[in-house]
Amino acid sequence: MAALFSAFSLKDVTLRNRIAVPPMCQYMAEDGYTNEWHQAHYASLARGGAGLVIVEATGVSPEGRITPACLGLWEDGQIDGLRRIAANIEAAGAVPGIQIGHAGRKASANKPWEGDDHIPSGEPGSWEIIGPSAIPFGVNLPRTPAEMTKQDIDRVKADFVASAKRAVEAGFKWLELHFAHGYLAQSFWSPVANQREDEYGGNAENRGRFLLETLQAVREVWPQNLPLTIRFGVVEYDGSDDTLFPESIELIKQFKANGADFISVSIGFNTPEARIPWGPAFLAPVAERVRREAGVPVATAWGVDTPALANGTVEKEQLDLVMIGRAHLSNPHWSYMAAKALGEEKPSWVLPASYAHWLERYAPAETE
Ligand SMILES: Cc1cc2nc3c(=O)[nH]c(=O)nc-3n(C[C@H](O)[C@H](O)[C@H](O)COP(=O)(O)O)c2cc1C
Repeated sequence: MAALFSAFSLKDVTLRNRIAVPPMCQYMAEDGYTNEWHQAHYASLARGGAGLVIVEATGVSPEGRITPACLGLWEDGQIDGLRRIAANIEAAGAVPGIQIGHAGRKASANKPWEGDDHIPSGEPGSWEIIGPSAIPFGVNLPRTPAEMTKQDIDRVKADFVASAKRAVEAGFKWLELHFAHGYLAQSFWSPVANQREDEYGGNAENRGRFLLETLQAVREVWPQNLPLTIRFGVVEYDGSDDTLFPESIELIKQFKANGADFISVSIGFNTPEARIPWGPAFLAPVAERVRREAGVPVATAWGVDTPALANGTVEKEQLDLVMIGRAHLSNPHWSYMAAKALGEEKPSWVLPASYAHWLERYAPAETE
């Protein structure tokens, strides 16, 4: 059996293989509520054979959404739709995960296909944005956030906790805290975005404080037997990584000591100055260093999207899980395709019986 198709256990959860669907915003929600789009989308991904399906960035508050069309978990009414999604993912044999986050200074934006830019302050659909310091991201996201007060910090931590509790109620078995991609938590970590002079800014210990305190607070309400995971940008590619990467490793060791079970290694995206060396599986060696140096199981995404590449990262023990994003939008049955490509004896086993029964003996003209 290819390494990609071996099972993976963490706490009381076992994934049927190493293939995960990372969170991918659908920008299809209204007032943070799921609808038929989300039901069909997530069920289809889980039926395609992945071991883990993580629901998109879900706002811990209305102001924490990236766009007005992002999902939310800030009120109890939002639980029911997500409960159906979690149940459908589980019924298809995958583990249901969800990412919760706050978009910080990148919030109040238009959908990617409608500009991907800030909705100007005061325009319909916009809201006031907050961040660690009154410093804008720039370019397409030029609005200046209000510098958060200590009260704001406490409120956002409490929002994370309340959303995590709702995620438990909704039946999710894997929680991912969104500490990546230049959103609120990641921007606290960034010396570019965070120039506070209090205990939440300055040296690495202070810049990591908001992240660590949020993790500690969530750990108290998220079940001990289920994975509590973090998506974290460990590098920026803006010339600062010689200092930032070792600091990120130290913070991840703190995450681990405070109850984080798994790290999805990603990029900081805190500055438009970054020069990212895009290429196939380019973050896998970075994730491997996190795995080795911090002693935590890891995943990464970003172009690990062919069966051979994905299998290689698991075989070489670079990654514990492989996040396959856009390739799943292209083919929700990516796992089945990969099982065939890697010569699995019975590739259709990753599919539900009502597909697998027919596909076992069916050899379609190859189009992949
Ligand atoms: C449509 C879309 C939406 C995304 N939304 C999120 C998100 O909600 N949270 C997140 O952490 N990353 C998000 N990402 C990043 C993906 O999780 C993933 O890292 C990225 O697509 C790179 O992986 P890939 O090369 O396999 O596509 C999104 C990416 C896409 C394409």
